[in-house]
Amino acid sequence: MTSPALSLRGVSRRFGGLLAVREVDMQLEVGTKRALLGPNGAGKTTLVNLIAGAVPTSEGTIELFGADVTEESGRRRVARGLARTYQESKLFSGLSVEDNIALALIGSDGGLWRPAPGGRAQRARRERARELAARVHLTRLMGDRAAALSHGAKRQLELAMALASRPRVLVLDEPAAGLSPSEREMLTQLLHDLDRDLTLLLIEHDMNVALAVTDSVTVMADGRVVFEGTPDEVVASDLVHEIYLGVSHV
Ligand SMILES: Nc1ncnc2c1ncn2[C@@H]1O[C@H](COP(=O)(O)OP(=O)(O)OP(=O)(O)O)[C@@H](O)[C@H]1O
Ligand SMILES: [Mg+2]
Repeated sequence: MTSPALSLRGVSRRFGGLLAVREVDMQLEVGTKRALLGPNGAGKTTLVNLIAGAVPTSEGTIELFGADVTEESGRRRVARGLARTYQESKLFSGLSVEDNIALALIGSDGGLWRPAPGGRAQRARRERARELAARVHLTRLMGDRAAALSHGAKRQLELAMALASRPRVLVLDEPAAGLSPSEREMLTQLLHDLDRDLTLLLIEHDMNVALAVTDSVTVMADGRVVFEGTPDEVVASDLVHEIYLGVSHV
């Protein structure tokens, strides 16, 4: 049997007196597209930070493809195929779309900056940056500064940057937040078109986006997993309506 792409067992994180994540168990088989829902402060971003190795766990075990990565650095996890985006934008706002993607490619190469221009590695990188831009429909904006992009185009760029390392597990933290309806539609289509083998964990408050691109749903509240099921089961669940859907999101 193949190992799950991502497996969490008894994962907790304490911040002083606050248990932000409490004994979370989660298994994502390879190719699963999972939505992670929950009200503000439920612990979703903290869970992403634990998965990515940005924040150490207080308790529990995290495995990627069967390997225990609980004590590994974030960089090592990227090398194992993990990529994530951030709830807050982390673009280099003064640089072009192309250069942002190129930097993500350099980072995923192991961070070796090769200043000599015109080299084969550099040409290959430019080619790959163009491919990634095309994949997220940003070809026309390659030369534009990131700061000048619309909200939606910024999210598209962040997705391209996350895909730069050719991830096998992709974790997106509220990629549709602040997007217009048409930008949302574009993003939904992009997420829908991700490779079948790519395992996705998508934090998303917009149910139209979340349920359109995922095959299973985990709901967190107060640090705990309180529900796991199919999109249909989530929509039908009184508990989920009570703790989540009934709560208007700010
Ligand atoms: N570095 C930190 N230090 C102290 N407390 C933190 C830290 N990071 C998160 N928290 C707290 O942990 C709890 C969970 O926060 P988290 O950001 O994970 O929630 P979330 O589900 O992502 O919420 P949102 O939907 O608003 O993004 C909150 O009470 C938050 O204040
Ligand atoms: Mg969050």
